[in-house]
This record gives sequence, structure tokens and C-alpha cells, in this order.
Amino acid sequence: MGTVLAVVSQKGGVGKTTTAVNLAAAFARRGMKTLLVDVDPQGAVRYGVGLRSDHVTVGISDYLSGEKTLRDIILPTALPWLRVILAGTVSAATNHVAYQHRMEESTVLPDLLAMARQRTDVVVVDTPPGLGPTVERVLSASQHVIVPLQAEPLALQTTPQILRGIQDIVSTNDELTLDGLVLTMYDETSETSVRVSEYVRRHLPRNMVFDLVIPRSTAAADAFAAGQPVVLRSPADAAAQAYVNLATELASRFE
Ligand SMILES: Nc1ncnc2c1ncn2[C@@H]1O[C@H](COP(=O)(O)OP(=O)(O)O)[C@@H](O)[C@H]1O
Ligand SMILES: [Mg+2]
Repeated sequence: MGTVLAVVSQKGGVGKTTTAVNLAAAFARRGMKTLLVDVDPQGAVRYGVGLRSDHVTVGISDYLSGEKTLRDIILPTALPWLRVILAGTVSAATNHVAYQHRMEESTVLPDLLAMARQRTDVVVVDTPPGLGPTVERVLSASQHVIVPLQAEPLALQTTPQILRGIQDIVSTNDELTLDGLVLTMYDETSETSVRVSEYVRRHLPRNMVFDLVIPRSTAAADAFAAGQPVVLRSPADAAAQAYVNLATELASRFE
């Protein structure tokens, strides 16, 4: 039986999708059978994961609405051990209300995650910002959750909120472990980055913050723009190596 790992944060733009895509690629590179699922209606995974075909747009929203079968929406990637379920046609729509209602009112998503877990080693879930109904659904079916935290001052205001929210959910789902916060886009030459890191480490329990950080790197941003995980495109890059190390650490916790 595999593990469902959710990537969750209060804020957008903190590196959730980059983290989800790169962890998924790093797990697959380790030979773990991996499924990446994008439940953020913005659908950014599609642009960063390295799909074999650019034309496919179907995904979870089309499965939710009953228009597609599971078989239709599980897509191959450049990596043999990595498959992906995109957000689907919802990401082309300006309005995501129907999608959100379906998420809220059905157990299709947690059912899918439970089923996927039976057939893979790890299911990585990229989520929309905040702790809305979609994220609640995801966490109800997850065993592990990590929270990317961008190393910038505003992050501090929202962190307590997301931690409280996750702790509420952790307390309703016996199987769920909050693995911790991971600092992203960390710049060791920036006073702000260093200050945020020190603050977070001082104010949270030691096991709530990963020792390793994801450095800010041009290669990471470039890879995303080029439609590929940085762990595949520039494996020697510091951010790529940090993601590989994070995947190794998480994999050891899954056993
Ligand atoms: N380690 C990094 N170094 C440089 N840029 C990064 C890094 N991680 C993410 N980014 C960039 O930051 C932006 C937001 O990242 P993204 O993963 O889309 O965040 P989210 O999913 O939380 O909205 C993207 O343009 C992405 O390329
Ligand atoms: Mg995202």
C-alpha cells in the first residue's frame, strides 16, 4: 500500500507546485511508482511536469463531472514511473464554482486517492492555496502533508493559521502526519531569508521544520518555464539536489 502526500499552504506563489512536481519526479527517479494529482483548478502542474503530449487537457474536473473515466485522465510523462492527473478543463474556465461544489459534495476525490494508493508507492497531491473544502478532502485521504513556506516576511503571518488548520485536520484523521514546513526560495545572501528561517525555527518545534531548505535558483524557475521538473532538467542545480534530498527523507518516513 502506498502513501498519499499532500502539498499544502495558506498562500499562493510559495512553491507548492514546484515542490509537488519535483518531489514526484524525484520519487519516480528512485524507482517509486508515483502518481501526481493536481487538484488546484488553476492547473499549473500541466505546465511544469513534462507531459509527453502538450495537447491533453482532461483531468480530475472531468472525472468529477462524470465526463471522463479514470483511464482517460491518467497520463504518462517523460518518466516511466511517473503518471499524472491534471486539473482538467476547469483550468481553462474563469469560474471554478461548479468544480468546488462537486468537490465539496462528493467523496469522489478521497475515493480516488484511496484507490490510487493501492496501486502506487506514492501519490503526490498539489493543492490550491488555503484550507478550503478541496484541501480538506485531500487531507482526509492523506497520510503525510508538507507545507512549503516562502522565505519572505509575510509568510510569518499566515503560517500559524495554516498550522492550526492542519492540526485540526490531523486530529480528525488518525493516519495523517504533518511532516513539517519546508522553506522555499531561500536565499542565503538575503537578510530577510535568514531572518525568516531563524524566526520559524525559533518559534516552532524542531521536528516541524525541515533542516534542509530549497534554495532560490534561476534553474528552478527556468525549468518550470521550460515545462520540466528541475530535478530532471538541471540535476546538478542546488534546488534540484534539495528536492532529491527532501524526497529521500520523506521516502524514509513512508515505510
Ligand atoms: N526554488 C525556486 N527558485 C526560484 N524560483 C522558484 C523556486 N520555487 C518556485 N519558484 C517560482 O516561484 C513561482 C511560484 O511557484 P509555484 O510553485 O507556482 O507556487 P504555488 O504553487 O505555491 O503558487 C513560480 O514562478 C516558480 O517558478
Ligand atoms: Mg500552484
